[in-house]
Amino acid sequence: MIAPLPPQPKILVLFAHPYPHASRVNVAMRRAIADLPHVRVHDLYDLYPEFDIDVEHEQAALLEHDVIVLQHPLYWYSCPALLKEWIDSVLRYGWAYGPGGGSLQGKELVQVVSASSAADGYGPEGFDGHDLPALLLPFTRTAQLCGMTYRAPLFFDDANTRSSDEVMAHAAAYRNWLRDYARPNIAASSDGGV
Ligand SMILES: Cc1cc2nc3c(=O)[nH]c(=O)nc-3n(C[C@H](O)[C@H](O)[C@H](O)COP(=O)(O)O)c2cc1C
Repeated sequence: MIAPLPPQPKILVLFAHPYPHASRVNVAMRRAIADLPHVRVHDLYDLYPEFDIDVEHEQAALLEHDVIVLQHPLYWYSCPALLKEWIDSVLRYGWAYGPGGGSLQGKELVQVVSASSAADGYGPEGFDGHDLPALLLPFTRTAQLCGMTYRAPLFFDDANTRSSDEVMAHAAAYRNWLRDYARPNIAASSDGGV
């Protein structure tokens, strides 16, 4: 007898790109996932151009989803400013962490990042001096503090010199990755920290 497939996780993509008109990579990726029925996209710069984030709306969306994707270009070894503002204002003490703050326990956080540096620029010998997991440590630790599992990022390096075909192939791979996204044993790999 064939075992039933596990239920498909509900995925919320927080899309953060301040210059979508100038984007080659992230806008193509967002377009590629637009029709996936289990994926909802919050385009943060479209929703909150004045940085006036609707915290209740964002928290309600988080509660409705199993997997939270942060999709953004790497900006100064971090995320664009509005995504940082989103983290600061939505992941509140007593809600996301701290006493009574277990709202996100057991969910997954995953980053989908593009960067202009080439992969060989990372690591102690490279131009950037650190490997990618080290650069993304604040996000890893944020997830852990909220009791979420931080999964390995999907990374697109050398983004500004890639051919159109390479960009489209990456967008298609992103779509397939979210379409087939499977939930591992979340409880086993989360170290909590709340
Ligand atoms: C303000 C700013 C800061 C950036 N910081 C970095 C960086 O720290 N590391 C890096 O590799 N690329 C950096 N980049 C390059 C972007 O990550 C790159 O242009 C982007 O990922 C390409 O995706 P897009 O076509 O969707 O814009 C930066 C770009 C801008 C505008």
